[in-house]
Amino acid sequence: MPRGTIQICSQCGFQTLQWLGQCPGCDAWNTLEEERIPLARGGTRGSRRAGGQGDGPTLAPRLLSEVGSAPIERMSTGIGELDCVLGGGLVPGAVVLLGGSPGIGKSTLTNMVLGNLAQEGRRTLYVSGEESAEQVRLRAERLSAGAMGVPVLAETDLDTVLGTLAGEVPEVCVIDSVQTLRSADHPGLPGGVGQVREVAGRVMEMAKAREIAVILVGHVTKDGALAGPRVLEHLVDCVLQFEGQRERSYRELRALKNRFGSTSEAGLFEMRQGGLVEVLDASARFVAEATSAPGSVVLAAMEGSRSLLVEVQALVVPSELEQPRRVVSGLDRNRLALILAILGRHGRVGTGGADVFVNVVGGMRVDEPGVDLAVALAVASAIRGVSLQGTPRACFGELGLTGELRWVSHPERRLAEAAKHGLKRTIAPAGSGDGAYEAGTLRDALTAALPAQGRRPALGVA
Ligand code: TYD
Ligand code: MG
Repeated sequence: MPRGTIQICSQCGFQTLQWLGQCPGCDAWNTLEEERIPLARGGTRGSRRAGGQGDGPTLAPRLLSEVGSAPIERMSTGIGELDCVLGGGLVPGAVVLLGGSPGIGKSTLTNMVLGNLAQEGRRTLYVSGEESAEQVRLRAERLSAGAMGVPVLAETDLDTVLGTLAGEVPEVCVIDSVQTLRSADHPGLPGGVGQVREVAGRVMEMAKAREIAVILVGHVTKDGALAGPRVLEHLVDCVLQFEGQRERSYRELRALKNRFGSTSEAGLFEMRQGGLVEVLDASARFVAEATSAPGSVVLAAMEGSRSLLVEVQALVVPSELEQPRRVVSGLDRNRLALILAILGRHGRVGTGGADVFVNVVGGMRVDEPGVDLAVALAVASAIRGVSLQGTPRACFGELGLTGELRWVSHPERRLAEAAKHGLKRTIAPAGSGDGAYEAGTLRDALTAALPAQGRRPALGVA
């Protein structure tokens, strides 16, 4: 190995001198990349500053109660769903990392934010390392009028960008994307872990020093992680993830980390001709579109602190394969395997020789335990070929391994959301409260949801 180089894991930032096939930090394979060790400013490689022996300067620590607490100033982005996910708006000096796969709408969202802020008379700057100024203009033409009033800088050299920031001192700046900027002082290709960390670190310093709110746009890898991910997640104040399927119009924005707010909020958007539009009546839409056919169930899910009604659909068909297929969209595949096992053992609904497909409609993703019951009922309804009694009817609840239905968070909000959209007798775990049809076990829920008559072991898989 050449001298003066180290191996850095592109996933977790783990460092080692020797190349290894598997990263000891995060167990990922083939993620170690060679990086030159940058020369310490004014020193030689690996030189250490004084102070390691306790002979550095001393400072008197302060009691927390004596530390002043200034109220956090926030700037509204003009997009309610985004403000909500941020915890109330952008904070001066804070760095937000916005991740998402290509084409999801990161540039559109950040263009819209700057447009709104510029229209309010705030100083803004859009740094594009990916597109030329002309390309950025083409996009802005499709957005609201304010978007055309945003100053743009098409540049990839980090020093030039920082120099411009220092000169212009905008209140809000977007850097699109962190992977395209390059620091001349640092070896390594743009987008590599070393470069990305250097770029993010120096942008952070500038943001703090000049009180600039910065949105760093970051790309995600095939498996959905941010490139150079954990390295950056530690650095920045807030990590937002923009999710959804490119072919579908719905997009979800979630906070994975937020030093200035909660991480439980989520925002829902739709990509339209004039940019991203907030979806405020998502439940009403999903309920109106729900089919009420066998295999379709409405789930009262939690999206952050709000309840959202979504449709879960299942299709069960005899399999021609030795190992039947289990295909999911919008939920965890392992969770489906577990629910099918519980259905077989405690609900007497077998899926042994069948292919099972489960889909959360509209490209939505549900990552909470309350989805279990909806999946179980959708699969059972599909197998028996009968619709849920009293459909459209909502449900929620977690399934335990012994077939019990377990309490999940915020039953009152879920029930209220179902009631608001005219759904009565929502099937829910015991202790959920007024308005619920409470079921203690999966068996109880199946009995309540699926009429006994019409029970036919469709497909010979029951
Ligand atoms: P973009 O914001 O460039 O995505 P990202 O920066 O995350 O890669 O745009 C995503 C897609 O959205 C692009 O294929 C075109 C489409 N789009 C619309 O449908 N309507 C619009 O008003 C705009 C600006 C883009
Ligand atoms: Mg883009």
